[in-house]
Amino acid sequence: MDNGPCEAPEHIFPANFIWGVATSAHQVEGGNFNNQWSAWEKQGRIKSGDRAGAACDWWRNAEQDFDLAKSLGVNGLRLSLEWSRIEPEEGCWNEAALARYRQMLQALHERGIRPFVTLHHFTNPIWFENKGGFETAESVKLFARYTSRTVAALGDLCTDWVTFNEPNVYAALGYFLGEFPPGKKGRFVQAAMVTRNLCLAHAAAYRAIHSLQTNANAGWAQHYVVFKPRRPQAAADRWLCGFIDRRFNENFAESIETGAAPFPLNKVGSELAEVQGTCDYVGINYYSRLRAGVDLRSPKTMFFQLTVPPHKPQGDRGVELPYGEAYPEGLRRAVERFQSFNKPIYILENGVPDREDRIRPWVLESSLEQMKGLLGEGADLRGYFHWSLTDNFEWNEGWHLRFGLFDLDPVTQQRRPRPSARIFSEIIRKSRNGWSE
Ligand code: FCB
Repeated sequence: MDNGPCEAPEHIFPANFIWGVATSAHQVEGGNFNNQWSAWEKQGRIKSGDRAGAACDWWRNAEQDFDLAKSLGVNGLRLSLEWSRIEPEEGCWNEAALARYRQMLQALHERGIRPFVTLHHFTNPIWFENKGGFETAESVKLFARYTSRTVAALGDLCTDWVTFNEPNVYAALGYFLGEFPPGKKGRFVQAAMVTRNLCLAHAAAYRAIHSLQTNANAGWAQHYVVFKPRRPQAAADRWLCGFIDRRFNENFAESIETGAAPFPLNKVGSELAEVQGTCDYVGINYYSRLRAGVDLRSPKTMFFQLTVPPHKPQGDRGVELPYGEAYPEGLRRAVERFQSFNKPIYILENGVPDREDRIRPWVLESSLEQMKGLLGEGADLRGYFHWSLTDNFEWNEGWHLRFGLFDLDPVTQQRRPRPSARIFSEIIRKSRNGWSE
């Protein structure tokens, strides 16, 4: 075949494909002291001992990072709204906070960047947490009310909504592994209850959004982990792996897809018919592969271990636990899993903790190859958001894990591009101009 200079550029990515970066309020805004994560930080529960503090200074000056994002050539940016700013006390609405969010959304439009807005990214206002968070049935109504108020205030500036970020991570880490607030361990029943309420709150929010906005594009962000048995020959590990895969990757998604309440959601309530079909797209957050193995000597981790074989590619390790194997092929598996929804798919997060940018370039290029393959086979993939633009406050790992295309010094607020920033920008440019140049 002639590959000479006259060959027409190859356009694998649709012209309106969204190339973006993803962020969340508590991790970047700074000055959030009225949510359960800031309380958790004060209690010294962050493994690195850090606090979010001024984070990336977005509440004062998100615009400087919007400029950085624009310099990469992105046409999308995912950010989240801080519920505790918008409704600092139950039923009290802070118009100044909504005005600042309006400014931010406008600033994105001015730069030709389409905002994707997450309504809930792990943080709850303190008053809501004190009422029991998503453990209570009342949470559904309260979340729907916050959604209506917010969409009414910002709806002229945004049509792409993410109701919840990673409801599976919120329930598993908060109620089963105890790594996130409220730090409960082994509460299988409560975790199931929380997941049910998150499904119901998602569906109520989905309906609230659509009743205010006929052209809304609403869904949620599903965290997907590729699990593999640690010892494939051991029946216990194979069973455990299948069990974790179904409970963690499937429970929330299956409820939205089918309206059935899978185990253990069916043990704490009846079917969830009213949540069926409440999404206009499926959003996927994909990062890593983990080996799951039974370990009876490990009560601290519920008698199982999630590990990474030492010879596999990894970004930086967490303070106590490995972050996961960098396994870009898993992106395909995640997309294939959610194709049964017959809805558009967005990769709403993908990245690797890698302070020295050792393997991020490879992760970016390999993820790109996965997406090209999937699009070539007809997958309805509409966008890819890299986590994240700059380093930011990484939850219970604090500032220890660095996910940025730009290195950020939280003390001086200085930003410096890692080599990956240029690589991502080149990927975007080539995907628009064709790959044959
Ligand atoms: C995801 C979270 C996001 C960030 C990345 C690294 O699970 O949604 O806030 O912490 O991991």
